[in-house]
Amino acid sequence: MRVRAPLSLLLAQRYTSLPMEQITLFTPGPTHIPTRVFEKISNGGMHHRTAQFQEIYSATQELFSQLVDSPTLPLFLACSGTGGMEAALQNSCSPGDAFLYIDAGKFGERWGKIGEALGLRPIAIKADWGHSPSEDDVLKACKTNQDIKAFCTQHCETSTTVLHPIEKYLPVIRSQCPQAMTIVDAISSLTTTPLSVSKLEIDILIAAAQKALMLPPGLAVLTISKRAWERIENTEVKSLYFDLTKERKPQSQGSSAWTPPLHHILGLHEVLTMIFEEGPHNWTKRHRECSTFAQQELTKLGFRVITRENPSPSVTGGFAPDDIDPDQLRKKLTQLSGFLIAGGQDDWKGKIVRIGHMGIVTPHHLEDLFRSLHECILSTSSP
Ligand SMILES: Cc1ncc(COP(=O)(O)O)c(C=O)c1O
Repeated sequence: MRVRAPLSLLLAQRYTSLPMEQITLFTPGPTHIPTRVFEKISNGGMHHRTAQFQEIYSATQELFSQLVDSPTLPLFLACSGTGGMEAALQNSCSPGDAFLYIDAGKFGERWGKIGEALGLRPIAIKADWGHSPSEDDVLKACKTNQDIKAFCTQHCETSTTVLHPIEKYLPVIRSQCPQAMTIVDAISSLTTTPLSVSKLEIDILIAAAQKALMLPPGLAVLTISKRAWERIENTEVKSLYFDLTKERKPQSQGSSAWTPPLHHILGLHEVLTMIFEEGPHNWTKRHRECSTFAQQELTKLGFRVITRENPSPSVTGGFAPDDIDPDQLRKKLTQLSGFLIAGGQDDWKGKIVRIGHMGIVTPHHLEDLFRSLHECILSTSSP
């Protein structure tokens, strides 16, 4: 008789290049910071105006460009992801300019808020939460708004767990509104799914530290295309810190206009090294496996998975069945096992759970999490 190894053992054996660490943080950011990354971040003896650091700075930029297939080096900014979104828009548009944006969740909405704060004219292409606008919606919006200066979208809309089909949107923008800068917020998708800046012709790509880059919050990374630099050089930016022209030259020389997020960069170098050690293909494949596993397990617990059409490989969400209060469940989960998962935002507050599976998370870790979730549900329903 053939004896089958337990699933957990099989899963653990498949991911031998990853550090086996206990993970309790399953939120869609901040995420678990691996020990070897922490060790690099905690270097207290490094100064940013030294040749040693400048070498690491340039090497980190090179690795990042390689990962996202960008012909230009990225800029590092000491701010959270929203700062990166604001910098991208502010440097691409002048006050009064119109731009289109995808609004199908909490982070899509944010483009509109940033646009208003900057005195721009935001025009939303909307879809209900849990969905993405269609290619045709984008085409129609382009036809009626030919003068737009930018198009902004999330890749993963973290609030709904949907991965927007940017590979369908961007060619429409290029053909209909070629002057528009294409700005993609890949804050919660980057590293979890293949993404090529060159192939998709993304003008500005935005990433942030605390998601699948497995770092503490406080670093935004922007890749900027050659043509976006031309636009930026000719845009009047009413900001000192976010005037990206001030960063262009120093950052091309391994330095920065202002004090850089030094320790984040040390950590990012290690994170990128880890990704290349596992191999970007295996890294994204593992995230897809986590997504499939999380969808299956949520369904077994009676949840209705938010999207089967376009699920993000970084985060999975589901609507709770009538007899489960998702926020009470989350609370109990943390009390009993220490695991943390996220709830819903705005209208979805108290209706859903969201489980982040970014970074070094494997289905093996998710197995532990779902076992605990199952126990919490059983203990709540038992008399
Ligand atoms: C897709 C997306 N965009 C933007 C943000 C905002 O980033 P931050 O909170 O770092 O400002 C987040 C954060 O959760 C996000 O998930």
